[in-house]
Amino acid sequence: MGNFDLTGRKALVTGGARGIGASIAEALAKAGAAVMIGDILNDLGQQTASAIAKTGAKAGFTPLDVREDASWQAAVAATISTLGGFDVLVNNAGIEITALVVDIDAAELRRMLDVNIVGVSLGMKHAFRTMRPGGPAGKGGAVVNISSVAATIAFPSIAGYSATKSAVDRLTRVGAMEAGKLGYGVRVNCIYPGLIPTDMGMKLAGDVVAAGLWPTTDAAVGDVVGQTPLGRLGEVGDVADAAVFLCSDAARFITGVGLPVDGGMGM
Ligand SMILES: NC(=O)c1ccc[n+]([C@@H]2O[C@H](COP(=O)([O-])OP(=O)(O)OC[C@H]3O[C@@H](n4cnc5c(N)ncnc54)[C@H](O)[C@@H]3O)[C@@H](O)[C@H]2O)c1
Repeated sequence: MGNFDLTGRKALVTGGARGIGASIAEALAKAGAAVMIGDILNDLGQQTASAIAKTGAKAGFTPLDVREDASWQAAVAATISTLGGFDVLVNNAGIEITALVVDIDAAELRRMLDVNIVGVSLGMKHAFRTMRPGGPAGKGGAVVNISSVAATIAFPSIAGYSATKSAVDRLTRVGAMEAGKLGYGVRVNCIYPGLIPTDMGMKLAGDVVAAGLWPTTDAAVGDVVGQTPLGRLGEVGDVADAAVFLCSDAARFITGVGLPVDGGMGM
């Protein structure tokens, strides 16, 4: 498998119970990594981990609410005790709450900030503390944060969400700078996925119709595809393959970048 071989790596994927996160967990396992899924969806997370374990990979589930420091501590400890180490973190968990600017609700905006910004920040904090020399895992590693094409274009009705994903972009750059300068041995990169028809993506397609921006979900999706040079929606596997690359030694001299996986929509 060459440079994309992740044999021996120990990965935690947040929000890995379903959607993009589940696909990333599967792809990391297929590349040889042992994988822990962390999510607030305990039953589905267990099922996804069991399905990966059935393929012969080492896989487990840990409850994780990315908004909470104590939950991170427990999830990282569970990852180390179950997998025997921790050197890959994919900060994938996120939520999207659609609202035109004129309709922004402070509590809902704060809910998004809490998951998308606080969650990613705490993830980097615990990854750095654990992976850096002298930490409980101590072998360095790779962090991949999931931002969005929403951080690179202006799409109506997702101002708040786009702001959180722009924050993920900046968190990635500053995290990469600190991890490099301070000798943690941890690379930090992010991915900007385009629209993908997961639970989140399909809900957004419905929300923009409800907001009066497009007449039907088919028209909204058709417009997105029309703005995408490669002419289709994204698939979860598109993001998963990019994550495997960024975690692998093929990306050994890459840190602090954002990789669009959007068919060219955000170019
Ligand atoms: N689907 C898209 O079109 C799209 C596009 C660009 C970026 N993204 C980003 O990709 C990531 C995954 O999105 P998805 O489409 O798979 O969404 P999804 O809603 O299908 O899955 C999100 C997962 O995150 C988990 N999660 C939510 N809050 C959590 C918390 N507090 N702690 C732990 N886990 C939590 C959910 O339980 C779920 O398993 C998100 O960060 C999203 O913003 C999605």
